[in-house]
Amino acid sequence: MTFNERASRVIPGGAHTYSKGRDQMPANAPEAFVRGKGGRVWALDGREFVDWGMGINNVLIGHAEDAIDQAACDALRQGQNFSRPTPREVELAESLVELIDGIDMAKFAKNGSDANSAALRLARAVTGRSRVLFDGSAPFLAINDWFIGHTPVNAGVPGEATALAHPFVYDDLASVGRLFGEHSGEVAAVILEPCRERRPAAGFLEGLRALCDAHGALLVFDEIVTGFRYTLHGASRLFGVRPDLLAIGKGMANGYAISALAGRRDVMHRGGLEHSDPRCFLLSTTNGAEQSGLAAAMATIAFYKAHDVIGQLDRTGREVASAITTAAAQAGIADFLSAGGDFGCRPAIACLDHQKQPSAAHRTLFHQELLKHGVFMPWICPSFRHGLSELDQTREACVHAARVYAQAIECRSVDGLLEGPPVKPVMRRYN
Ligand SMILES: Cc1ncc(COP(=O)(O)O)c(C=O)c1O
Repeated sequence: MTFNERASRVIPGGAHTYSKGRDQMPANAPEAFVRGKGGRVWALDGREFVDWGMGINNVLIGHAEDAIDQAACDALRQGQNFSRPTPREVELAESLVELIDGIDMAKFAKNGSDANSAALRLARAVTGRSRVLFDGSAPFLAINDWFIGHTPVNAGVPGEATALAHPFVYDDLASVGRLFGEHSGEVAAVILEPCRERRPAAGFLEGLRALCDAHGALLVFDEIVTGFRYTLHGASRLFGVRPDLLAIGKGMANGYAISALAGRRDVMHRGGLEHSDPRCFLLSTTNGAEQSGLAAAMATIAFYKAHDVIGQLDRTGREVASAITTAAAQAGIADFLSAGGDFGCRPAIACLDHQKQPSAAHRTLFHQELLKHGVFMPWICPSFRHGLSELDQTREACVHAARVYAQAIECRSVDGLLEGPPVKPVMRRYN
């Protein structure tokens, strides 16, 4: 029995996150990882890879970073969970308030979906309204009904649960304005990632802020990916637009499970005990203040203060993007294979077929060939510990992979080159 077969017998999908599933990888991808250090990972079959996946954009300093692991171990040896608050949770909340512009309070959870969904509940409680507007162009915002119900994989989500969430189009302010018009006086919040690989169009975030203010809705930034990656101080520092609430998660603790909902005191306090309004049941989870996660987050913040992590992520990501575009140009396929974006810390890879259409088969082929040269690149997530040897190996792998890609463009097909099925979209209705 293969590892995949064994895993799929006892875990639906064979993995605990759909984006780690076997339908997301080329046939020659490692079935499982057993260990990581810095920017490298080791597979169950013994192969070693330069890792650009980094625990789904989560491990931004590097795998098994000693100072962070030590802090987490020290904490867990003193007990992982207690039935009253601990100084660690207050310290971490104080640190976030100090670091992130415009927030006064924070509450912890274990994943980004919970933090985003809590933001929406809080916004509904504070405004007394029920509708929310979300970025319908976002690949992912939450596992919860308000988001999943609007994707093709919405089996099990009742229509009633999604009817109160309305998708708008990123960078299209008019699409948001229309929804505010159609549901006048009913919108509690607008939620979106402030940016992905591209900067927002001029005036888009400012326009959202103005629409929210004009209509009495709250603006929520999903900073699960941008937090601790583009800046330590919140996307508002980059774009000059302040949300009322924000959610952070990935990157906050170098892979340890912790997320946070943070925001202005006058909004967050509705989740507290010092008011006479109806209470809002805000993010109350057994493991939200697990001690090792809090200690890892504090150690991560200390690491960022001691090292230029943000600058390094930006430089490394730009090098990787350039390795891909340079190799593509050398192979004569610059029009078909490229990587880049406005932020070095989060470059996107574009794989087109011979007709210049986005192609999952070509994307799979490129990854398949990189894997043969020891590079695991489902997407590009740079970490502080990716160094010269990882970049050199990636450059060489890209040269090789681009040559094979060029054959596919020349033959107008991946047939005979692709060794298994192309990756499938996570958000699809049928297997
Ligand atoms: C932008 C964004 N928001 C929210 C989430 C959900 O985070 P989590 O998987 O921790 O629930 C993700 C996860 O990939 C994400 O990319």
